[in-house]
Amino acid sequence: MTETARTVRESQAERSEIIFPGDSNALGNLFGGRLMQFIDLVGAVAAYRHAHATTVVTASMDHLDFVAPVHIGDLLILKASVNRAFRTSMEVGVKAMVEDPKSRTLRHVSTAYITYVAVDQNGTPVPVSPIVPETEHERRRYDDAERRRQMRSSEVTRKREMRSTLTIGWHV
Ligand SMILES: CC(C)(COP(=O)(O)OP(=O)(O)OC[C@H]1O[C@@H](n2cnc3c(N)ncnc32)[C@H](O)[C@@H]1OP(=O)(O)O)[C@@H](O)C(=O)NCCC(=O)NCCS
Repeated sequence: MTETARTVRESQAERSEIIFPGDSNALGNLFGGRLMQFIDLVGAVAAYRHAHATTVVTASMDHLDFVAPVHIGDLLILKASVNRAFRTSMEVGVKAMVEDPKSRTLRHVSTAYITYVAVDQNGTPVPVSPIVPETEHERRRYDDAERRRQMRSSEVTRKREMRSTLTIGWHV
């Protein structure tokens, strides 16, 4: 079945968080694992909206930059867009910024690229609609996503082959 193409705008997602002490590391900054959780959740919303599927699962997070720390009390804004949809998988880009509530200026703190796969109730991958990039930035991200997919695919294949030869164990 041919899936109807959808725009990036249709599935974009945003999340805002005020950072509390319970989310901090020993330096009093936002704990990296908590930021990864925020990133994964907002990215999943964009993928979910695009896929119109039963659900989506995170297949990999292959690129994550922590550019600058997030402090307790900061207002963290995360935005997610589907950069490109493939057969059953989608690459979602998430950008995280801290907003200064007085000046409304933004400070870039993190960028991530995550692959989600649309699945049915049995966890079997199902096809998703293609993405139609409309703006210059969307077209750039669309092209870059294909380059990243090629790098990712060769690494996924290499790791699958390696796993098939290893016995189950820690191999430390
Ligand atoms: C992701 C998952 C559904 C893929 O299943 P699979 O049996 O490898 O399925 P396929 O080989 O048909 O691949 C399906 C798609 O996933 C992509 N994919 C699989 N592993 C991937 C990886 N590590 N990184 C990126 N994409 C991946 C494939 O490229 C393919 O994309 P396409 O259809 O757009 O070409 C399966 O590995 C899974 O359920 N993993 C656990 C997901 C999960 O629990 N996430 C939460 C983390 S705790």
